[in-house]
Amino acid sequence: STQENGPDVRVERDGRLAIVTIDRPKALNALSPDVLSALLAVFESLAAEGSAVRGVLLTGAGGRAFVAGADIRALAGLTPEQGEDSSRLGHRVAAAIEGLSAPVIACVDGFALGGGLELALACDFIYATDASSFGQPEVHLGLIPGFGGTVRLPRAVGLARAKELIYTGRRIDTAEAVSIGLVVRSFPDRESLLAGARATLDEVGANAAPAVGLAKRVLVDAAGRRTESATDLEIAAFGDAFRTHDMREGVAAFVEKRDPSFMGA
Ligand code: HXC
Repeated sequence: STQENGPDVRVERDGRLAIVTIDRPKALNALSPDVLSALLAVFESLAAEGSAVRGVLLTGAGGRAFVAGADIRALAGLTPEQGEDSSRLGHRVAAAIEGLSAPVIACVDGFALGGGLELALACDFIYATDASSFGQPEVHLGLIPGFGGTVRLPRAVGLARAKELIYTGRRIDTAEAVSIGLVVRSFPDRESLLAGARATLDEVGANAAPAVGLAKRVLVDAAGRRTESATDLEIAAFGDAFRTHDMREGVAAFVEKRDPSFMGA
């Protein structure tokens, strides 16, 4: 089934997977305020479905871009306060993606620039076609990354590489993005990209969903914390796993030498 969320964002469901497509090819899927609001609504409604959603693919339509950035035309006349508001809206979208307990894979086929790369960085990881390109070109416009690039890019590639990318605004291709750990897997074409991402989400979906959700929560929340504060999160979430049916079942199944039968709770 396909659901419309405003004119520019589509959601298709395939069993427990959701495919979210940003479909504004005339502007290379640039993130207008309407697109960001639609994305926020989509991820909030997926979160409300709980364990009915086991994984999400986020992609862009049109064959040329994942997302070529924030909509530059919409930024042109903003006051400083409105600039902050537009940054804040992007951060709310990122928080909704990170807050979803199911994994979200950014499937990049084409340009992932500026706010587009930042949107991909808010996902759990990035898969891409060989012909894609990545960059934070904001300084070319007198701007800086505003949807989380200064925070998540250094976590992904290290501080020095993030500084080089952000200060130069340089674009890198998929091969280089893989070599610095920005992209975790590359594919020859869009079809194999989407199939590869589905295969990964199917593999994840066979596991205990609460465990995957707890792991995601710690991985997201621990990033950037000091060691002891981060390990405290892991300790609490490890304990939370013992509250789930699936943990009792997974451990019992191992002991009884049988396959587990997970219920997602
Ligand atoms: C609005 C955009 C756009 C964008 C492309 N378009 N990127 N519109 N915002 N970010 C539009 C173009 O204006 C053009 O519309 C159409 O999409 C096709 O783009 P072209 O430039 O004609 O294509 P091409 O020559 O192939 O160049 C592709 C490109 C280039 C290299 C990706 O479009 C480009 O540099 N785009 C901007 C990339 C960028 O700077 N992104 C960062 C934005 S700032 P028409 O109507 O002319 O056909 C940002 C800040 C985030 O993201 C934080 C904010 C708070």
